[in-house]
Amino acid sequence: MQGNSSQTSLNRGADLSIGRIVSVTGSKAIVLLDGASNSRARSSDGRPEMGTLLAIETARTTVLAIVSALSVPVPSQRDGESEVWIAELGLVGELSNSERSDTPYFNRGVTAYPALGDRVRLAQKPELEATFCGDTSAMVRVGAIRQDSTIPAMVRVDELLGKHFAILGTTGTGKSCTTALILRSIVEKNPAAHILLLDPHNEYATAFTEWAEVISPRNMQLPYWLLTFEEIVEVLVGDGDRKAEVEVLQEIIPIAKTRYNTARSAEPAKIRRGLGDPNRCTVDTPVPYRISDLLSLLDERMGKLENRRDLAPYRSLKHRIETISQDGRYAFMFGSRTVFDSMAQVLGRLFRVPVNNKPITILELTGIPSEVVNVVVSVLCRMTFDFALWSEGQVPVTLVCEEAHRYVPANSTLGFEPCKRAIAKIAKEGRKYGASLCIVTQRPAEIDPTILSQCNTVFALRMSNDRDQEIVASAVADTGAGLLEFLPSLGQREAIAFGDGMSLPARIKFDELPRSALPKSSTAIFSERWQTSLNEEGFLDQIVERWRASGIPTNGDAPHQLAMMADALSDALGMQSASAAESSSYMAEEASGYRVAAHSASPYSTAPSANRQNGSLVRRDVPTSTSHSSGTRSSAPERTAPVSQTNPGDKATSGLSSSDALRSLRERLSRS
Ligand SMILES: Nc1ncnc2c1ncn2[C@@H]1O[C@H](COP(=O)(O)OP(=O)(O)O)[C@@H](O)[C@H]1O
Ligand SMILES: [Mg+2]
Repeated sequence: MQGNSSQTSLNRGADLSIGRIVSVTGSKAIVLLDGASNSRARSSDGRPEMGTLLAIETARTTVLAIVSALSVPVPSQRDGESEVWIAELGLVGELSNSERSDTPYFNRGVTAYPALGDRVRLAQKPELEATFCGDTSAMVRVGAIRQDSTIPAMVRVDELLGKHFAILGTTGTGKSCTTALILRSIVEKNPAAHILLLDPHNEYATAFTEWAEVISPRNMQLPYWLLTFEEIVEVLVGDGDRKAEVEVLQEIIPIAKTRYNTARSAEPAKIRRGLGDPNRCTVDTPVPYRISDLLSLLDERMGKLENRRDLAPYRSLKHRIETISQDGRYAFMFGSRTVFDSMAQVLGRLFRVPVNNKPITILELTGIPSEVVNVVVSVLCRMTFDFALWSEGQVPVTLVCEEAHRYVPANSTLGFEPCKRAIAKIAKEGRKYGASLCIVTQRPAEIDPTILSQCNTVFALRMSNDRDQEIVASAVADTGAGLLEFLPSLGQREAIAFGDGMSLPARIKFDELPRSALPKSSTAIFSERWQTSLNEEGFLDQIVERWRASGIPTNGDAPHQLAMMADALSDALGMQSASAAESSSYMAEEASGYRVAAHSASPYSTAPSANRQNGSLVRRDVPTSTSHSSGTRSSAPERTAPVSQTNPGDKATSGLSSSDALRSLRERLSRS
């Protein structure tokens, strides 16, 4: 059957055709290729390969089909003898002619099926363009289509993020580079993105130098009172059969919250903003409470007990609370002596509100003990969902989980339960609230299948393990499945991309990241390092120092925390931003020997920026003796004497001096 004369300019007639349809079943078709005698069938540009996109004209549309298998059922015995060449196709989409423009538009799925005898040809460049690019307004480029390297591979941002995506591939195939590339493309076009990236190998900071807020638990603030009951139990009690302790905590935490809250209720409503009715705190409500209240509640209850044997859970809880609040590794959670309501600041910094030109938060996790990492990751994953939920979808957030098999393993005995649940929740319900997930892993077979199955777009890089390939194959709709045969043999920067983020499943080649945007490779170059001996003086000492310092909080916390406190207070007081910045800087300075440098770049990119304009913090050489104990804490605002109060309303307008601002902030703090 020949081309219909009424068909469009895209129909190049039958002369380009390479065969004819001999079978159509559902979404599959079989083509009898114009055999070996046809020179086009042998030439490289006319020869269909696995994964090639073919076109078949029907009355109103052009059906697009992907080659999923090629075979010669009965090979001839002698060269030159005729034989039957077969191509199996998956029917994947169609191009329809629009009345308004010359370019046809692409639809997934097929409405008009090809008939027996219809001629089949390779899809032409305008067809590939219409298919893979189409309306590019909400798309970003990540690479090129393998079939024609002049056609860009575009991903649809809303589908990609809204319905979660996964980047899979054997180690060293380029997952981290791909993650960086995709995120960079997205951020370039969406400068006010909100992306939280969990970075277990501290490799991404170099890929987003200008765009990322880099946080490690050493400069992070994640106050314990933000934890849900389950999370705080995990930290303070751990697993095992400790029911009695859990019950005690369940009783005293709401009381501690109420105590803190009641103390606040005397203050004007503006300052208590968000704390709500002090009598209506549940054990999970993220409102501040003091560790000192917990300890005194424990003491009170111990004092009332008659049977000494009942003391055990109280004693062990008290001991654990005391130990952990001294533990340097947990300083990001318990390090602050002063409890103040910094929730808005913590959320603002983590989820980039306002964005302040840094749409990505990178959370570096290397070198932190696994139980601490588990808690941090779990809290952040849970907060990502809650933040999206309570922002009612106004701030869509993407959580990128590198090495996701660590956090959501398929094996139910592995991993950290609260963390698994938090990620699963984003995977299952996140779409409704604008919380999305990017799963990056080298072991798709080891990841919880329910989570992987929620990833609607997959970029599969080279993969050799059979189990892993099976898992990926099970995630692909049948029609693109032939492409997965390539998985073990994909080249550098190549991937099979399929799912909602792509128009059609395709073999693509990612763009090359510029050197300046590469993630720091974690692969050691043995052949280079093993050429000369390292005789550098002090090298081993440096290693030892770094090693030992891993558990010690840096003093970077103190000014940051104080600045955050000042921000929190000035927010509540409605002070103008300049004086807030000023006072926060001064507070920080007083506390730990930091001086204010107006307009200079801060080495602490971590300092909260909500209310800052200038006056960033610059580290002065702080004598080590002030680093940890006395220097920081003895001057902490909690201990300073109250000064008489002035009306907060006046402050904003009266050109308040920085020392006044400081004094008033201190006064408020001293009452906490
Ligand atoms: N898009 C890309 N641009 C530049 N280099 C890439 C790209 N993809 C992969 N590479 C190269 O592949 C190497 C390994 O990539 P990496 O992302 O570290 O792998 P993985 O995370 O899978 O272990 C990198 O060092 C880099 O040289
Ligand atoms: Mg990697």
